[in-house]
Amino acid sequence: MAKIKKITASEILASGGAPSLEVTVMTEGGFVGEASVSYGASAGTREATVLLDGDRTRYNGKGMLMAIKNINDILAPAVVGVEVTSQIEIDEKMIALDGTENKAKLGGNAILGVSMAVARAAAAEKKMELYEYLRETYDLERTSRLPKPMIVMIEGGKHADKTTDLQEFCVSALGDRTAAENVRMEMEIYEALKKILKREKLSTNVGNEGAFAPNGIPSNEAPLSYLVEAMTVAGYAPGVDCGISLDAAASEFLVDKNADPKNSIYDLRVENKKLTSEELIEYYAQWIEKYPFVSWEDMLSEFDWESWPKLLNKINGKFPLIADDLTVTNKNIWQEAIDKKAANAILIKLNQAGSVSETIDCCKLAIENGMWTVPSHRGGGETNDTFMVDLAVAVGAEYIKCGPTRGERVCKYNRLMKIEDQIKVK
Ligand code: PGA
Ligand code: ZN
Repeated sequence: MAKIKKITASEILASGGAPSLEVTVMTEGGFVGEASVSYGASAGTREATVLLDGDRTRYNGKGMLMAIKNINDILAPAVVGVEVTSQIEIDEKMIALDGTENKAKLGGNAILGVSMAVARAAAAEKKMELYEYLRETYDLERTSRLPKPMIVMIEGGKHADKTTDLQEFCVSALGDRTAAENVRMEMEIYEALKKILKREKLSTNVGNEGAFAPNGIPSNEAPLSYLVEAMTVAGYAPGVDCGISLDAAASEFLVDKNADPKNSIYDLRVENKKLTSEELIEYYAQWIEKYPFVSWEDMLSEFDWESWPKLLNKINGKFPLIADDLTVTNKNIWQEAIDKKAANAILIKLNQAGSVSETIDCCKLAIENGMWTVPSHRGGGETNDTFMVDLAVAVGAEYIKCGPTRGERVCKYNRLMKIEDQIKVK
């Protein structure tokens, strides 16, 4: 088979206008794998480190030159010459070279960039689609089901200015349409929503993730009724054809991240309310019977471990509670969340984990427990890379979460529809 011949890395721009990293791996047979790394705006504190230069004279300290140097000087020399299909061995080697808990030394961005590009080069070498190669490499069960879209329609929190406190109001497809039909349904709802926002005299400018981010939304609940109305106007039945997924990203409206989590106070600025964890759970609970929910995510802060099981109890099996900042695509933390009955689904972000193998290990733990995996885009620094879609197909994920517009978002849905076409042809 083919050994890795060369690895190069360069600084590119991510969707927010700050740099990110692109890595290219070439095999001795001349096959090439290219990958770029995304990162978040509302990142969990325990995510793999995004190594930034910190040199204020370049990109306000957000340059990638140190990560590139680590690839050139440390990772590439260790990986060049290794069989390109030895993905797990390569990832383990890079993790060991870093040696820290959160990839603080070499950078999760540097390690992940190499890891993803190696997987792509290996798939090219084997003349396989990336999702097929991942299935084979990680011994994943082949399912014919494709992930359904969970599309962010209205965004607030850290992804916009003066919008809602909750970060994401999404429409998630239900039923058994094709991926292309699901995408069409969602975009028709997005168009219907635009008219509703205009009628409400709200702006239809978009935020970080390409979703509407209007100033002056009257409450955190208002988007829920706009979404239900948009579904109906577009000709779809709420709760049958599609439903609502929320991501509160609640760590972002916690008043004091350093306070004892037992005394957590959440600041709902839009409604001028400061609530304890118990009160916040009650605030959300009023919505459970009123709206057609598909899932909730990060409704409490990543520090508030004691409250998560209480919320899960409240939901009482009606829909999954997804952990994102709480579990940061980390298998050990995810196991802890499962053991404590804190969450029963997981958001998956490659750059939270910092390598392809660790990301898939985390997905496998969900699969073993019969729980959903939801591979996701990142808010602040997304790129045109579509690895997350192939990952979602390979692990048989229930949903993929991504925004509805802007090139770095729509490329994910375009990839999903392309995979569907390929599967049809086979
Ligand atoms: P982030 O947002 O990438 O800014 O963290 C997305 C999310 O929280 O799901
Ligand atoms: Zn989230």
